[in-house]
Amino acid sequence: MTAPNALTIWVHNILGITVQTTPFTPTNCPYSISTPSLTFGAGEEMAALNLAASQYNLTIISGGQTSIGYNGYMSGAGHGALGPTYGMAADNVLEMEVVTPSGEILTVNECQNQDLFWALRGGGGSTFGVITRTTIAAFPSVPLHTLTLQFGTPFPYSDTYWSAAAAFFSSYPSFASNYHLAGYGTFSPNTSISISANQTGNFGGFAGVFLLPAVSPSNTTTSLEQAILPIVEEIQSSYPGLFISTNTSATYPSFYDWWITSNGPDWGGIDLMVGSRLLDAEALSGNLTALKEAMMGATTTTMGQAGLMVDFVSGVGVWDAKPRGGGNSVNPAWRRAVVHCTNGATWPYAPSSPSALTERTTQQNLLTNTYVQALRTLAPNMGAYVNEADVNEPDFQKAFWGTNYERLVEIKRSFEGSVIV
Ligand SMILES: *[C@@H]1O[C@H](CO)[C@@H](O)[C@H](O)[C@H]1NC(C)=O
Ligand SMILES: *[C@@H]1O[C@H](CO)[C@@H](O)[C@H](O)[C@H]1NC(C)=O
Ligand SMILES: *[C@@H]1O[C@H](CO)[C@@H](O)[C@H](O)[C@H]1NC(C)=O
Ligand SMILES: *[C@@H]1O[C@H](CO)[C@@H](O)[C@H](O)[C@H]1NC(C)=O
Ligand SMILES: *[C@@H]1O[C@H](CO)[C@@H](O)[C@H](O)[C@H]1NC(C)=O
Ligand SMILES: *[C@@H]1O[C@H](CO)[C@@H](O)[C@H](O)[C@H]1NC(C)=O
Repeated sequence: MTAPNALTIWVHNILGITVQTTPFTPTNCPYSISTPSLTFGAGEEMAALNLAASQYNLTIISGGQTSIGYNGYMSGAGHGALGPTYGMAADNVLEMEVVTPSGEILTVNECQNQDLFWALRGGGGSTFGVITRTTIAAFPSVPLHTLTLQFGTPFPYSDTYWSAAAAFFSSYPSFASNYHLAGYGTFSPNTSISISANQTGNFGGFAGVFLLPAVSPSNTTTSLEQAILPIVEEIQSSYPGLFISTNTSATYPSFYDWWITSNGPDWGGIDLMVGSRLLDAEALSGNLTALKEAMMGATTTTMGQAGLMVDFVSGVGVWDAKPRGGGNSVNPAWRRAVVHCTNGATWPYAPSSPSALTERTTQQNLLTNTYVQALRTLAPNMGAYVNEADVNEPDFQKAFWGTNYERLVEIKRSFEGSVIV
């Protein structure tokens, strides 16, 4: 966690999950919302919520890590593989119970305490009060088609690999707008990948999975292949020597069946400093040379350092989201983003070693000023995802909240003002 000297409140034991398959009536609203929903305590984590929903053939907006507390995830916006279909976690909240700094217990929704309802859905965790109970919308489960893809070139890879990688990456806006795909992938400049017996070793390579929830009859394994394979064939013929492997075999009965086999058990913790940038269609398709330069600049070739991770978690569902109450405080950059990119830097963990601490500072500076900076230069008018951001993000108010920042500060001040010490 990144909260030195902060007050931390342990909510782990505030448990309980209720699944409601009938419409939900927010407190003091003269109407009900016709959606299935989950209501849960502050200590409930991603894995338990996914399991509870799946037992009713429902699905929720979910991130990958199994032990993330849902409220922290949601209050920073909360991206997930179903985002391109249904929006972000914060877009699907119906009601919350909050303990304010003055000790009042408030129920916030679109009919009462609307300012807090707006702020808590995207304004960042640990800021306005302690959320003790949350109700979120759930969706009927549908099958999930997947396509895994790897490509790469052996060393010396530099030009062919990065050109092919940029050409492929520039197709994401079309994958989002035309095909409503989601997925996860990593562009690594120096990684160990295995494509076939004679194509194993250190490569510059991409490895990823594309996901298509079958929300319409036209969403089939074949339509998923037809969305991606022509692009793959195009780059294969443009960049001879590229190794490519695709795998279209897997259709899962539901998002949950894919999620539970693809995530966890969680790490006990790793030493990694991360950075984030949201990239829009202009950044990805506007200028291929600039994209390639940014991808090269965003990563280091040193083995073991993180590559450029691409969370393909935005798209029409996030762009067109209709959060309850007419809006929420999710970073407006998400409404234009196609992907959320993260990169990172590591250092040898040795808390008492002066040289390890020096190396940590060196890596932190490289991350902020070189790797993440390459992405900021590519997309200067976008922003970053607060939950996975560089702790030294410059101009963080704008990067994390854009035009919502001012109203968020006002709301925060109004609650701070009520603190009884
Ligand atoms: C979930 O779907 C399965 C398969 O269609 C069905 O057998 C089961 O009864 C459903 N469960 C609930 C709780 O609706
Ligand atoms: C999935 O269905 C949506 C809605 O019909 C459609 O716009 C999209 O192109 C489909 N995507 C694929 C890959 O089939
Ligand atoms: C490498 O393996 C592929 C199939 O896995 C095969 O088609 C190709 O001929 C092999 N190349 C060499 C140089 O052995
Ligand atoms: C294809 O994908 C499935 C499911 O992700 C995986 O179990 C299998 O190992 C993959 N096969 C190859 C050849 O990559
Ligand atoms: C594309 O980006 C490159 C590298 O940043 C730059 O030199 C070039 O002027 C850009 N082209 C256009 C048309 O903006
Ligand atoms: C890739 O990583 C290996 C293993 O750490 C290292 O020996 C090699 O120099 C790296 N290659 C490049 C081009 O950085």
